Amino acid sequence: MTDKKKTAIYPGSFDPLTNGHIDIIERALDIFDEVIIAVLHNPSKKALFAMDERVKMIRQSFNGTNSVKVDSFGGLLVDYAKMKNAVAIIRGMRALSDFESEFQMALMNRKLNKEVQSVFLMTGFRWIFTSSSIIKEAAQFGGDIRDMVPEAVHIKMMEKYPPIKESEE
Ligand code: PNS
Repeated sequence: MTDKKKTAIYPGSFDPLTNGHIDIIERALDIFDEVIIAVLHNPSKKALFAMDERVKMIRQSFNGTNSVKVDSFGGLLVDYAKMKNAVAIIRGMRALSDFESEFQMALMNRKLNKEVQSVFLMTGFRWIFTSSSIIKEAAQFGGDIRDMVPEAVHIKMMEKYPPIKESEE
């Protein structure tokens, strides 16, 4: 067997990156030599942050971690994985409710390219309830999301949704 570097792709909208995503990336790094965080377009979601803003926030959050690369891509995930010689696609699982759509996506990706394996990692218990969507919703109405996102994301979120003054509540 050859001693080749094993690369995994961690794809997602990352609109924005959360501590739950970071937990999954850290777990993936226990298994793979390199993880490429790939910001991809999800046709069923309208994004709050532009692609380059999302990439920048992720880069700032992983600054100095050589085994983590950050990129964006506009086409099919499996084509990107092939281009990067990745052996796996990582997806995080929080609850059973994630299963159906993840299963469907994994089967479609397998149909499109049999060479790349989908690997599901369970998020840490403390991040079970977090998602980019629920964090955006909380921030929009003045909720404190500081503990749920990296510092670089928190700063940008506060620019999008400045804290609500008491007189406005
Ligand atoms: O974070 P998300 O929104 O759950 O990520 C979904 C994403 C971006 C990974 C998915 O929509 C995707 O792979 N988009 C790229 C287009 C593609 O390959 N679609 C076919 C897979 S079913």
